[in-house]
Amino acid sequence: MGCHERVGGTEITVNQPYAVTAEFYDLLQADGQLAVVDRLADRWFGRPRVGVLDVGAGTGLAVFRFAQRCELPVHAVEPAASMRAVLLSRLATRPDLRPRVRVHAAGVQELGLRGVADFGWCLNTMGGLGGPARRRALAALAEALVPGGVAVVQRPPATARGDRRSLARVELGGDVYTGDVTSMPVGAAGVRWCFRYRVVRDGELVRQETETFDGHLVSAELFDAELLRAGLAPVGADSPDVVVVRRSPASDTRE
Ligand SMILES: C[S@@+](CC[C@H](N)C(=O)[O-])C[C@H]1O[C@@H](n2cnc3c(N)ncnc32)[C@H](O)[C@@H]1O
Repeated sequence: MGCHERVGGTEITVNQPYAVTAEFYDLLQADGQLAVVDRLADRWFGRPRVGVLDVGAGTGLAVFRFAQRCELPVHAVEPAASMRAVLLSRLATRPDLRPRVRVHAAGVQELGLRGVADFGWCLNTMGGLGGPARRRALAALAEALVPGGVAVVQRPPATARGDRRSLARVELGGDVYTGDVTSMPVGAAGVRWCFRYRVVRDGELVRQETETFDGHLVSAELFDAELLRAGLAPVGADSPDVVVVRRSPASDTRE
């Protein structure tokens, strides 16, 4: 079945990134994502003293972990309205955390944040940005950190394999929610991810939604050079494809 086929309902052209995915993200991906967040945070979070910044906060999975790990301001940068809606709904039920979590409704490169955090975080986000936007985002991340601040950054993919993996399978009111993601190379330096979400009732497919994302392949060497240019020196590594960077005291983040 191709990525654009749809079962039930009418065909809708979606122009807003994550408009489809936001509905299913936590149900099908939160457990896996939180396992990564907790493992990385146990190792790298340390004891920030200024603030915490999550670039590409999505539905707020990591934001909530950080807000519970410290008493500092947490800046959640999330430009997609649908993902932000989940994050805000999460915050609506937590009046204890609300005073400290500031939500920024734009890309990090549009915000002009300066020195708001000594711990930064950017998972599963850089691969979606083309070269100029990525370099501006890295410069903005550096500017948002105080000198000496540390950030955990997931690299963009360096290669596109062309494979398919299953998402979780979750029972909800007798229905089964599940899906898969197919990745395929696009030209020499691109990748396309096709997410298919399915709802199955009594063995019958009752709903299927798809969303496609285009990504950009970047070698580790090129990404390291971009980090350094932004004033972010690699100081550690982790999986999956994570580089830990420190903002240099004399950071020059101008393009
Ligand atoms: C694949 S989601 C990952 C969300 C979250 N980091 C996670 O791992 O669960 C990538 C997120 O980055 C956001 N994003 C895209 N471009 C961005 C930018 N320039 N600045 C900040 N966030 C961005 C998207 O809207 C999306 O919610």
